Amino acid sequence: MSGSVEGVDRMGFEGKVVYITGASSGIGLALAKEFALRGARLGILARREDRLRQLCGEIRATGGTIEYAVADAADRGGMNTAVASLNDRLGLCDVMIANAGIGASNTSTDLNVTAAEQVIRTNLLGPMYAFEAVFADLLARGSGHLVAVSSVAAFKGLPTSAAYCASKAGLNAYLESIRISLRARNIAVTAICPGFVRTEMTEKSKKMLWACNADVAARKIARAIQRQKKVYVFPTRMGLLVKSTRWLPDWLVAKALPDDSVFG
Ligand SMILES: NC(=O)c1ccc[n+]([C@@H]2O[C@H](COP(=O)([O-])OP(=O)(O)OC[C@H]3O[C@@H](n4cnc5c(N)ncnc54)[C@H](OP(=O)(O)O)[C@@H]3O)[C@@H](O)[C@H]2O)c1
Repeated sequence: MSGSVEGVDRMGFEGKVVYITGASSGIGLALAKEFALRGARLGILARREDRLRQLCGEIRATGGTIEYAVADAADRGGMNTAVASLNDRLGLCDVMIANAGIGASNTSTDLNVTAAEQVIRTNLLGPMYAFEAVFADLLARGSGHLVAVSSVAAFKGLPTSAAYCASKAGLNAYLESIRISLRARNIAVTAICPGFVRTEMTEKSKKMLWACNADVAARKIARAIQRQKKVYVFPTRMGLLVKSTRWLPDWLVAKALPDDSVFG
């Protein structure tokens, strides 16, 4: 069912097996629809089974090939088992997109360490578990693509999102490291760093500068994956803005982002 919509070439993944974690809503769900349009054979993962089943129904109704498996991204054994069951139904994975993620906020009086632990498990260990589950097959075949959805929050420790920023900064460093070492194995690695995207995660955010919808984000992300970008930051101006805050004094950042700020 691949084709061209609005003049955009959406080919390039015909018959490829693409797994997406966190596909029950937001960017992951939009990515599933985008890769279905591009002809991929999809394996989708998340915890909310009703949402996964519904998405499978929608994509099958348009002629797509899709299977789901329920998995907690923060559970290493569970992720391995879920991926093995997708392998049985779809064949071995070509592209793993570790997208599942959560946010958590802290304030100047509450570091919220319990929530921080879950953020690190989901956003940092989660992609490692997802990659591990397909890694032996990619190595044996000598090809494949590991992708993770990080964030522009990787580039600056924003005051109300300490654990979130730490998880994404750690994720970017991890991706960079394995990207360099896996070059010799012909396995590509891509870090996707979105700015604001309108999803369930950001529905409580008050101000979302240069925000886009999930379907627009998915189209951009799919194109970056197709081009095997190392790091893809969008929108470009949001990446530049966040990186430039590194040169601002702390008092100014604290004033701009008080305790009640919410960052996606
Ligand atoms: N929205 C933004 O502005 C923005 C900006 C930059 C980066 N991102 C990143 O984009 C990714 C997707 O976020 P989104 O905005 O699309 O949010 P979302 O709509 O809340 O979707 C999050 C997805 O992750 C899954 N998930 C969360 N915790 C999980 C767990 N423990 N195990 C398995 N699945 C889990 C959820 O599925 P279940 O609850 O069904 O398990 C859901 O499918 C995240 O990594 C986020 O950090 C988002």
